[in-house]
Amino acid sequence: MPQTRAPGSTEDPAMTAAFEARIAAGESIEPKDWMPERYRRQLVRMMSQHAHSEVVGMLPEANWITRAPSLRRKVGLLAKVQDEAGHGLYIYCGAETLGVDRAELVQQLLDGRAKYSSIFNYPTLSWADIGVIGWLVDGAAIVNQTVLAKASYGPYARAMIRICKEENFHKRQGYEIVSTLAAGTPAQKAMVQDAVNRWWWPSLMMFGPSDTESPNSAELLRWKVKRKSNDELRQRFVNLTVPQAIAVALTLPDPALRHDEATDAWISGPIDWDEFHEVVRGNGPCNRERLQARRAAHDEGTWVREAASAYAARQRAKQATAAA
Ligand SMILES: [Fe+2]
Ligand SMILES: [Fe+2]
Repeated sequence: MPQTRAPGSTEDPAMTAAFEARIAAGESIEPKDWMPERYRRQLVRMMSQHAHSEVVGMLPEANWITRAPSLRRKVGLLAKVQDEAGHGLYIYCGAETLGVDRAELVQQLLDGRAKYSSIFNYPTLSWADIGVIGWLVDGAAIVNQTVLAKASYGPYARAMIRICKEENFHKRQGYEIVSTLAAGTPAQKAMVQDAVNRWWWPSLMMFGPSDTESPNSAELLRWKVKRKSNDELRQRFVNLTVPQAIAVALTLPDPALRHDEATDAWISGPIDWDEFHEVVRGNGPCNRERLQARRAAHDEGTWVREAASAYAARQRAKQATAAA
């Protein structure tokens, strides 16, 4: 168990100063190290939301596994969706090193008390959505997660290094679908353009509101849990993605999008934050459907968890007998 204090206890200023000095020196914080309770709680919140997002993120795409247009596409999509389950597992395991129980974190998701990424509350209406999700949603995740791979908490950072390698494959398979459709028949091109029109703005919202509106951001940046602001990451994503859209002759649904010569940056128009807040509040197109699907999967998986626990108990008993 990590040596953290009970929630609400007063922190020792000398311990906190030593902790902050370690962070400032670029040291990695490990599970058994002393850490301020607030640091621990912020990480539990971030890591559990991240793990939930990986798992809920399987749902919109799993919806298309049975309808993939070819064996090759089906194999790729199956592998990707399985990877996302693995990402959820790595990050839940990472969160457990902070002294929380995974079952409790999952229960918070099922009860609707925990958040997950707003993007997964949008529907996947056509096969082109699968390409566009890989390109834009996994592309945005890479930008976020590449920076999290340098987060000060060791288990989180290490999970991100492995996850980012898989996300790169997700993005490539998505962009390949997009470029194939974009070079296809007029109907295929219209289908992929429609998917881009629907996913572009929600992808930009994935980075969250401007940090000036987030009370947690300054502290998370100081503690090097976050290494870049939401706006910086969003800008990096836009700069990377606009040339990729141009390369396959797709239009991004932003009439205000312009290239700034001085900074060589692509500047997007205003984001509709009202839509974002509505989705976060539970009123997106698929919030209810997603939670219902997770609850059903959890119930149907009860026997698997029970069987795994019974097997583990039997193994422990065997080892104890052998050691006696
Ligand atoms: Fe993932
Ligand atoms: Fe992914």
